[in-house]
Amino acid sequence: MNLKDLYINYFISKGHKQIPSAPVVPENDASVLFNTAGMQPLIPYLMGTPHPYGTKLTDYQKCIRTNDLDEVGDTYHHTFFEMLGNWSLGDYFKKEAITYSFEFLTKVLNIPVERLAVTVFAGNDTIPFDEESKSIWLSLGIPEERIAATSEDNFWIAGETGPCGPDSEMFYWRSEDEIPVSFDPEDKRWVEIWNDVFMQYEKKADGSVIELPKKNVDTGMGVERTTAILEGVNDNYASSIWKDVIEKIEEISGKKYEENEISMRIIADHIRTSVFILADDAGVIPSNTDRGYILRRLIRRMIRHARKLNIDLNSNFETELAKLIINKYSKYYEEISKNENHILEELTKEKVKFSKTLEKGLRVFEKETANISKIDKDLAFKLYDTYGFPIELTTELATEKGLEVDTEGFKEKFKEHQEKSRTASKGMFKGGLAGDSETETKYHTATHLLNAALKITVSNDVHQKGSNINNERMRFDFSCDHKLTEEEIKNTEELVNKWIKEDLPVSVKEMPKEEAVNIGAEHMFIDRYPDMVTVYFIGDVSKEICMGPHVKSTSEIGEFKIIKEEASSAGVRRIKAIIK
Ligand code: ALA
Repeated sequence: MNLKDLYINYFISKGHKQIPSAPVVPENDASVLFNTAGMQPLIPYLMGTPHPYGTKLTDYQKCIRTNDLDEVGDTYHHTFFEMLGNWSLGDYFKKEAITYSFEFLTKVLNIPVERLAVTVFAGNDTIPFDEESKSIWLSLGIPEERIAATSEDNFWIAGETGPCGPDSEMFYWRSEDEIPVSFDPEDKRWVEIWNDVFMQYEKKADGSVIELPKKNVDTGMGVERTTAILEGVNDNYASSIWKDVIEKIEEISGKKYEENEISMRIIADHIRTSVFILADDAGVIPSNTDRGYILRRLIRRMIRHARKLNIDLNSNFETELAKLIINKYSKYYEEISKNENHILEELTKEKVKFSKTLEKGLRVFEKETANISKIDKDLAFKLYDTYGFPIELTTELATEKGLEVDTEGFKEKFKEHQEKSRTASKGMFKGGLAGDSETETKYHTATHLLNAALKITVSNDVHQKGSNINNERMRFDFSCDHKLTEEEIKNTEELVNKWIKEDLPVSVKEMPKEEAVNIGAEHMFIDRYPDMVTVYFIGDVSKEICMGPHVKSTSEIGEFKIIKEEASSAGVRRIKAIIK
């Protein structure tokens, strides 16, 4: 039986209910690009909303972390990974959680106690040392020398605000070397495999920490790492999760993994993540903004490395690899086979689009970088705009040649260009290869107006929980404890239309994210944003952290009409609206 099945079966045997994996594209949270941890879809329940499946849950969750995207290529970074988890929502706490973890590791996975070590929370100014967890580990047979206490690394929170608490991490000795008596969490031969978080606090935006209504447990075990450990390999890509994918790449390219590790790992990782992004019902496709841009970067980087291995880009290598991934995972994620055609089509479409300009772009790159040490903003922009090279790809190529890139200059130029084309096309976003339609841009600005209007017409507590836009309509999810009355709907619609008629200017400003929070810009999971954020202002009625694009002034939107108001999930309502 594989690790996922062993885990789920074990926790079901302990009275947990299995919940399905949420999509990688969050359904009710427009501020995060992707789910980054098993707990993320469970935040409302950790905060106190009753979960329909009860108080003891378990699952395997699809996660994507793109902050280390450029690190992929070594033995253990992945952009997509699966996280196993078990949760107590105000049910059991430290004793049971730690005992389950210990029993699963030593009795189900049969890991010898000698190869295990743990950390506990050492305490800080406000929260005391977690003596209880330490004594539970001791009582189970983890020796004192194998228990380390830290404050920084043993307090877990998904970002800067939200449910959080002290945690206890479990480590495995992944080395042939003799196991030291004393545990040093900094020694890289100890690999973290599982984390039990005791979520009893909520951190507020002002930094204060309050008790949650209930004490919860949130745990997370990494499938890729733990599988590699159980199979005794030091390179995650040598485990059963990747072996067949790497072999397929060897077969297609006629080259050996040992001589081409980096490119093969990048191809294997990026194709898997692309398949999972495309598999979601959210319908993300390659584009130049947000999730679509991440997808585009992944596919284009994968293609560049395929070319490095001399894989014929006119062959169907991308669909061959994607099919292998689809077969491997469809038993666990039904959406992946359901959306197989869409996945394969979009991958090929993007490949065809990019391969048309890749060769030429690479020739331009070689020629123009022959005698320079730094790629200036103009060349970086030309590679982007004319040849479709994401800036990160230019940087990667440059690094391989020992060159620098003026990325700051590129960003400025990119913005200027955006502004220009926006003016030229009256609000239409046309940055480089952008595919965002004029209509979607209007909907995007309308979303901000709706968010601001609801705060006035319904309640100051309304906050955006998610949104989804296409050419035909917008969907907006927001926190609200009641079904909107007809009057509230009417007032909201009228207020949005009033602001549209007033032709309010839309302006944009970059600022440190602390400043954005201080001036009261709307946001959700602030931690997901970089240190500098973009804030969009609409007259003085709305300010929101957002990446755009938006119209120049509100009269461009047209007439706004709410066509439906309904429940989305507990405490969350959904509005569907159109513009005419
Ligand atoms: N949420 C915790 C983590 O991701 C378990 O490490």
